[in-house]
Amino acid sequence: MDEQSVWLFGYGSVIYRPSFEFVESRPATLRGFARRFSQRSDDHRGTPSLPGRVVTLVAREGASVRGIAYRFDAAQAEATFVALDHRERAGYERSAVEIELDHGALASAYVYIAPRGNAWDAGDERDEDIAATILRAHGPSGSNVEYLLRLADALRSLGDRDPHVFALEAAVLAAR
Ligand code: BEZ
Repeated sequence: MDEQSVWLFGYGSVIYRPSFEFVESRPATLRGFARRFSQRSDDHRGTPSLPGRVVTLVAREGASVRGIAYRFDAAQAEATFVALDHRERAGYERSAVEIELDHGALASAYVYIAPRGNAWDAGDERDEDIAATILRAHGPSGSNVEYLLRLADALRSLGDRDPHVFALEAAVLAAR
């Protein structure tokens, strides 16, 4: 890893659909956060009249999130972040964190987090209410069900057991 490398930690759709060029990718863990479907999506997986629900990260002591870390060279990183800043403009902010790459190394990385209280924050909804919204919502990027099921599949491939995501997957599959 050279001085010019920049990492991005992906924990949502970026895991299964990165939509950017990168030098390498590695499974990784971010400690102190949990993944939650608590962000309204009125531009990707829903509409202003029926916003879907997509993931963000919430700070939680003792929790950890599995994801994929993508490494860029500096020029690639700049172009990628300009594009992602635009794509994720509905409440997400880019923050610097420390991640653990699988096989041990620590790395500084950027991560997109929509903080509590942002204009698209859906707050602490019950899983059954989130699942009911996901079942109905569709947006320009596809159905909210597809977003959830692809994320759950990607996490299974990573060997992750995120209880919130898998509870929502079970609820949605049972209702279809
Ligand atoms: C991600 O998949 O890491 C991601 C989630 C929300 C906004 C940007 C990226």
